Amino acid sequence: MNRNHKIAVVAGDGIGPEVVPVALECLDILASRGGFSLNLKEYPQSGSHYLKTGEVLSDETLNEWRKFDALFFGAVGHPGVKPGIIEKGLLLKMRFDLDLYINLRPVKLYAGVECPLKGKTPADLDYVVVRENSGGLYTGIGGSTMKGSKDEVAVQSMVYNYRQVERCLRYAFELAMKRRKKVALVGKSNVLTHMYELWLRVYEELGALYPEVKREYYHVDAACMFMIRNPAMFDVICTENMFGDILTDIGAETQGGMGMAASGNLNPDRTGCSMFEPIHGSAPDIAGQDKANPIAAVLSGKMMLEFLGEHAAANVLDQVISRYVLDTQLGISTSAACKKLVDLTKSLS
Ligand code: IPM
Ligand code: MN
Repeated sequence: MNRNHKIAVVAGDGIGPEVVPVALECLDILASRGGFSLNLKEYPQSGSHYLKTGEVLSDETLNEWRKFDALFFGAVGHPGVKPGIIEKGLLLKMRFDLDLYINLRPVKLYAGVECPLKGKTPADLDYVVVRENSGGLYTGIGGSTMKGSKDEVAVQSMVYNYRQVERCLRYAFELAMKRRKKVALVGKSNVLTHMYELWLRVYEELGALYPEVKREYYHVDAACMFMIRNPAMFDVICTENMFGDILTDIGAETQGGMGMAASGNLNPDRTGCSMFEPIHGSAPDIAGQDKANPIAAVLSGKMMLEFLGEHAAANVLDQVISRYVLDTQLGISTSAACKKLVDLTKSLS
């Protein structure tokens, strides 16, 4: 196994550059003590880079990124850039062109983190959302006509083909086999009847190949309710792109907030370079105030280590986070948090 991992780093905008360095420093300590190395190259892509240069993400840069073992992002998004430009030109372009068809978003409550759900403990919150990341409403298929008149029409369609549905569900089943062997497909089969005829048929077909995995189905509105009322019922939630976007913000809130929520945009077939980032955005409202919680970035680093096959180091980082959240007040400064995380990584690795 090649243990010299090439990583492209995009610190990005707002709090991105405040949370990325600590994650990289922890990873670096783990690498030097764990017998592997991380070969980092930084890239400026971001909203502020776009404002300066007019470049969002060139094909040339994207093709360069293909050669890395992973991409590590802080956060991108700038209040001075019109909505959609960075989202479509950078994040979605990567997801589509690198075929990062799984957006893996764990929802786990660490002991010591205050949960907004009354009476819930870490035993109640430990599931993973498998968000389909290559299709649905995000493909942008649609258009509008008669703009500006009272007859104006706008269409944007939810689009899936069999192959996209199949590979996403297969990933969910495989993941469930390594966990508590339970998948909940979340959709809206009572309204989106064409769409869920497809998803549910493939779910049954594939489910037959995974007889040990318990299959459940929930409408997305009911799933929102259960994520609050009884999150312990979930192990692996599998859902389409937009529902997954919305559900994982709820999930993040239940595990202690956006500062605790990590994600991996994965190409499980490794035909494109997978990307790891906190779920939170660039948070311009708190940027530059030494207030950002770096845990989501560190947890994203942990997910990256797992994907790179560095399981021992990932486990150490998980212990670092567990220990950190047990005795750290929420809302300590980013710099104090960084120091603590680095010290813990040194002492536990
Ligand atoms: C996320 C974000 C993105 C999404 C945006 C920024 C395009 O909200 O990663 O959850 O909608 O997927
Ligand atoms: Mn989102």
